[in-house]
Amino acid sequence: MTTAEVIACCRELAACSEEPGMTTRRFLSPPMRDVHARLTRLMETAGMKVQVDAAGNLRGLYPATNADAWRFIIGSHLDTVRDAGAFDGVLGVVLGVALVQRLAGRHLPLAIEVIGFSEEEGVRFGIPFIGSRALAGTLDPAVLEHRDDEGCSIREAIVAYGLDPATLNDAIMESRTGGYLEFHIEQGPTLDVMQLPLGVVSAIVGQSRFLVTFVGHANHAGTTPMKSRHDALAGAAEWIARVENEAKRIPELVATVGRVDVLPGAANVIPGECRATLDLRHPANSARKASARLLTDAAREIGIRRGLTVYVEPRLDQDAVRMDPFLRQRLERAVARCSYPVHVMTSGAGHDAMVLASEVSTAMLFLRTPRGISHHPDESVREEDVEAALRVGSALLDDLEQAAS
Ligand code: GLV
Ligand code: MN
Ligand code: MN
Repeated sequence: MTTAEVIACCRELAACSEEPGMTTRRFLSPPMRDVHARLTRLMETAGMKVQVDAAGNLRGLYPATNADAWRFIIGSHLDTVRDAGAFDGVLGVVLGVALVQRLAGRHLPLAIEVIGFSEEEGVRFGIPFIGSRALAGTLDPAVLEHRDDEGCSIREAIVAYGLDPATLNDAIMESRTGGYLEFHIEQGPTLDVMQLPLGVVSAIVGQSRFLVTFVGHANHAGTTPMKSRHDALAGAAEWIARVENEAKRIPELVATVGRVDVLPGAANVIPGECRATLDLRHPANSARKASARLLTDAAREIGIRRGLTVYVEPRLDQDAVRMDPFLRQRLERAVARCSYPVHVMTSGAGHDAMVLASEVSTAMLFLRTPRGISHHPDESVREEDVEAALRVGSALLDDLEQAAS
């Protein structure tokens, strides 16, 4: 694939969507089948053996020259946020396929597995990293019972896709896996502002996610006096302002309430229930956890004061993660060998790499994101940066080949 073809492929996959006119592709949703079919064709043409594991991860294996060789994984995710761009996640998978294609049938003393993870964003079930957690062997079976808005559980979604949740353990990565590399757009403005094509990731910030539900009493909007109301949305609104203040107060903390569902949701009915998501991130785990405690306590305190019942459901508690120093060093060397400036940076976005890092040497390479726009249809990538990533990826594979010979 040329760099233009890599970009065109990402844009074509973006058309596989649950919603017309925008890109929305959640865990094992119908358009994921189309994405799997298209990528399978590309992977098979490049000489890979392809399967979908029980967590819905698409896995293409390019065998090594020898059966007992180590395996090296290149991957990212294939699910998207609602009304997404074309490159978040998908680009990392397509680049992996393109790198294998560029080997033109030459096999290495290490096997290469290209993986398109089924779920990273947490949109459908409020729980991110389902795919990579299955690979790392850290997917808590209790998670399978979580339900989406339509009442379908993760277990049922897996079965509906034609997969068998009883074989989830088979999705765990091969024991002779020596490394994981993820290409990803930066999703922020740093590289663009510095006019740099690439960034080598040193660490990924930690994340906490919660679902906070305020329950009051629905009642008539015209007849219920203000002093006798238990308005769930008004309580949630007070809390959301607290969330924003906390993030302004604590340096480097970012805090987002990205979704609010109000029931019954009518102009002339006092909101009886309000469900709000909370996403908290900070480079230091202790600071993130302290703010998580403070904000969940604040929700309860607001509830008591306003006569609301408050339920706090933790959905994610992911510590900050360092990338592997040795693989990172090799990646930096590859960047330098290809004559690009070596820029080392932390990631504020979450990635499958932060889940795999606990099990295998992990490194990430960021590509510049024009204007820092991501999680938005205007997300883009420059052709020359895609070429830079492919060159660096090939240089890293050369280096690993020499080390394995
Ligand atoms: C993934 O896109 C994230 O939420 O950081
Ligand atoms: Mn994303
Ligand atoms: Mn992503």
